[in-house]
Amino acid sequence: MKKTKILTTVILCLVFASTHAQQNVNYDESQVPAYILPELLKCRNGEMVTTAEQWEKQRRPELMELFASKMYGRTPAGDIDISYEILTDNPDALSGKATSRQVKFTFSNGNKKTEAILLMYIPNMRKGKVPVFVGYNFKGNHSTTTDTTILHSPAFRLVKEPGHPDWERGNQANRWSYDMIIDRGYAVATMCYHDIFPDKPELKEYSVVSLFPGYDPDKTAPEEWQAIGAWAWGSSRIIDFLETQEEIDTNKIAIMGHSRQGKAALWAGAQDERFRIVISNNSGCGGAALFRRKFGETAEIINKAFPHWFCESFRQYNNKEELLPVDQHQLLALIAPRKVYVASAEEDLWADPRGEFLAAYHAGPVYRLYGLETIGSDEMPALHTPITGDIGYHIRAGKHDVKEYDWKRYLDFADAHFSKNSVTRPSFK
Ligand code: GCU
Repeated sequence: MKKTKILTTVILCLVFASTHAQQNVNYDESQVPAYILPELLKCRNGEMVTTAEQWEKQRRPELMELFASKMYGRTPAGDIDISYEILTDNPDALSGKATSRQVKFTFSNGNKKTEAILLMYIPNMRKGKVPVFVGYNFKGNHSTTTDTTILHSPAFRLVKEPGHPDWERGNQANRWSYDMIIDRGYAVATMCYHDIFPDKPELKEYSVVSLFPGYDPDKTAPEEWQAIGAWAWGSSRIIDFLETQEEIDTNKIAIMGHSRQGKAALWAGAQDERFRIVISNNSGCGGAALFRRKFGETAEIINKAFPHWFCESFRQYNNKEELLPVDQHQLLALIAPRKVYVASAEEDLWADPRGEFLAAYHAGPVYRLYGLETIGSDEMPALHTPITGDIGYHIRAGKHDVKEYDWKRYLDFADAHFSKNSVTRPSFK
């Protein structure tokens, strides 16, 4: 290793060590325990999967069941009422090159309701229907742009007092490369994730979870869904709405989630096949990173810091990752043969870039059942050297964030795969 690289690594480790000083966090590759990943293609009855059909009929449902019952919780089968109301429709957005549309979603059950606002930008220059990126924002729709016509997201006031700096317009606009997305011919649909489940354990009462039959504010069943499950569910409701929009090509829907929303995007992608491309940006622990490496954030740390994200039965694996019946390469494989893209950031050690990469690598066997292109080597690629087969990956310089560099790669990936029209699942009926 070159001296400068060693120095950078030491500095990074010190920075992380001080940020998470109170926790016992491993950032040393030599301390990663030897581990054996749970087998992707071995069914519960011991049979090995050899065809895509067998994967879909036998093994895939087994893994879906395990992720639901042991990690993210079960998405309820029942329905609640959902209505949509177009609030604004502005053909002069982004200096006239896009139409912005804001839509109120009302989720209700009897007298109880919650509200969300979806913000769309649709390119005005269109030849036919356009592909779309769906993704949650963290700090309200107003944070993604300085456009003063954009309304505040309804649940934002529950998490941040009005007047807090996060109320400022455009405070996360750097994460939303709207101009570039529109220039490249894509629409974008974003919503504040707090509108679906305000991200604090004590705010569950204001989440969509509280609307479902069987919800009990005083008791959570071990396999009951929580925030990540709800966010995943909400992104499928965004697609339900997009299906009513004549400008949108519903065969070309990509979901992009950053960090905690990367975790939710992967779970959404596993459950809803209408997501044809699933992108996890720096999703880390409980997202793309392999739990068994215990590098950076671990099951125990995440369950303690965010007790409302995963189902309660997941807590039994605190400090016992080796007993988990699944690991995250299997979550990525559940997206096959649709496309999955995992992105890491060099300084984001908390999210374990190597663990994110290896999960993408180890998802390969399922993609190969479909004859698709997987990651050829378990050596991580150099910085800024994207892998763009049917499983995509890149690692960029810098911190935990969504940068223009990331969006460029996602647009390239979507251009390549949407044009191939190879993003649907064969039918084995
Ligand atoms: C915390 C958390 C991560 C999460 C991140 C985020 O750092 O520990 O698991 O991904 O927040 O969502 O930004």
